[in-house]
Amino acid sequence: MNTGRFITVEGIDGAGKSSHLEFLASAIRARGAGVVVTREPGGTPLGEKLRALALNDPMEGTTEALVMFAARREHLVRVIEPALGRGDWVLSDRFSDATYAYQCGGRGLPASVFLTLERLVHPDRQPDATFLFDLDPAIAYERQRAQSRDPDRFEREAADFFRCVREAYLERAGSSGGRVHVVDASGSLEGVRDRLAQAFARAFP
Ligand code: TMP
Repeated sequence: MNTGRFITVEGIDGAGKSSHLEFLASAIRARGAGVVVTREPGGTPLGEKLRALALNDPMEGTTEALVMFAARREHLVRVIEPALGRGDWVLSDRFSDATYAYQCGGRGLPASVFLTLERLVHPDRQPDATFLFDLDPAIAYERQRAQSRDPDRFEREAADFFRCVREAYLERAGSSGGRVHVVDASGSLEGVRDRLAQAFARAFP
C-alpha cells in the first residue's frame, strides 16, 4: 500500500526549523517508513543553481516568485512525486507556503499571481502536514547573528520585512483547514522539540 506522506517545515529565517529536521526524520523512520529529506529552493541539481541565484542575485519581485516556482517544479517532478510514488515520506525544508509568506507577505506579490503559479506548478499536490516554526523576528534575528556565516539576500532584510512574512505565514496557517501546525519556536531547543513531537503526534496519530 502507498503510505508516503509529504511533510514540510516553514518559518522565518532564524526560527530554527532546520535544527529539527533530523528529529522529524527519525520520528518518521521509527514508524518503519523511508524518508527523503530535501529543501527548497533546491533539492535537485538545477534547483540548487536556482537557489544560488535566488539567494544572491538581486531580482524583480515577480521574477523572484517565478524562480522559486521553477525550482519547485523540478523538485516536484524529479524528487517529491517519485518518492511519494515509492511509498516514501518526503520531508521538505520549505515549499509553497514560503512563497506565499516571503513573496506575497514580504515583497507584496499579489495573492492572485501566487495562486495562478501554484495551480500551474502543483495543481494536485499540497503537503499532508506543515510544521510552522513561529518566532518573534527580533529573537530570530539574534539567533541568526549568533551564527557566524555571511547573511544571504533574504537574511539581510529589515525587521519589518520579517514581521510581514510572519503575519502571512500565520494567516495561511489559519486558513489551511488544519494542515499547518503552528509550533512555538521560542525558548530552548529541547522545549521546541517537545512541542514539535506533540504536533507531529497530533498530525499523524
Ligand atoms: P532557507 O534559509 O530556509 O534554506 O531558505 C532560503 C531562503 O529563501 C529563505 O530566506 C526564504 C527564501 N524563500 C523564499 O523567499 N521563497 C520561497 O518560496 C522559498 C522556498 C524560500
